Amino acid sequence: MKKPVICVAGSANMDLVTTVQRMPMAGETIHGNAFQTYFGGKGANQAVMAAKLGGEVWMIAKIGEDTFGKDYMKNFTACGLNTSCVYTTKEASTGIAAITVQENGQNAIIVVGGANLSFSEEEIEKAAAAIRKADVLVCQNEINLNATLRFLQIARMYGVPTIFNPAPAEDFPDEIYRLCDYFCPNESEAAHIVGFPVKTIEDVKRAGKDFLSRGVKNVIITLGSKGSLLMSEGKTVLVETEKVTAVDTTGAGDAFIGTVAYFIASGIPVEEAMKKASHAAALSVQKRGAQKSFPTYAECGF
Ligand code: RIB
Repeated sequence: MKKPVICVAGSANMDLVTTVQRMPMAGETIHGNAFQTYFGGKGANQAVMAAKLGGEVWMIAKIGEDTFGKDYMKNFTACGLNTSCVYTTKEASTGIAAITVQENGQNAIIVVGGANLSFSEEEIEKAAAAIRKADVLVCQNEINLNATLRFLQIARMYGVPTIFNPAPAEDFPDEIYRLCDYFCPNESEAAHIVGFPVKTIEDVKRAGKDFLSRGVKNVIITLGSKGSLLMSEGKTVLVETEKVTAVDTTGAGDAFIGTVAYFIASGIPVEEAMKKASHAAALSVQKRGAQKSFPTYAECGF
């Protein structure tokens, strides 16, 4: 069987992770329990998840010519990603994420984009050949927005289905929504964009309708331990997830999206892809780190 081809245009960050009993308050100093560095960044995480499942994954990314960048390039190769569209720069440092993880597994993240935000016009256009070959293109919002917009336009031009994870959320130009085959925010990203709280299932459905009215073809809103909701014209499906005890939720959304991308690229129905993605995400929260916690196809028991 042909391997599904997934192209991910997105961020690569070095995650600097501190574990704490509780978050510090403004102006307060507290003792942390432990410190670790992990390979992260929403784009790279989603790419690595799809590769762990067995996909042929093309990564479009930009890193600095510094120690983190050199280590990251080795990580991409070790994970089996195609790196012909991983660009480097001396002008900016590799992206980092300062992450604090509480004992209950919840996290808070500050991202400093660095090289991720410096895709040039030439680098963007060079990546068109990789996008054209893909069964699906996956984007997030941790690289320069003009690059994301162009990558989505290129995918649409070649008839390649698109998945956009609007994280971190901001007010996107109208065209972005029309270029999304699958628009995949979590509840807080959805709330930020629609401008009302997204807490109850009714709120989630209202947000979903809002995104459909903007021109998105399918909306998948992830709901943490409550699962995920699919909405498309005339269809609303809630996909529940298993209950697990989380030690670190960092990257769980990326495990979900990388898995959805792999299975959409494989041609299976989206609800089925979401069920499998929930399972991969549930396994990932039971280990620390982002990519490091992601299960392989065999570990998922698919
Ligand atoms: O989604 C988790 C990721 O968000 C982390 O790996 C961090 O790098 C930030 O991009």
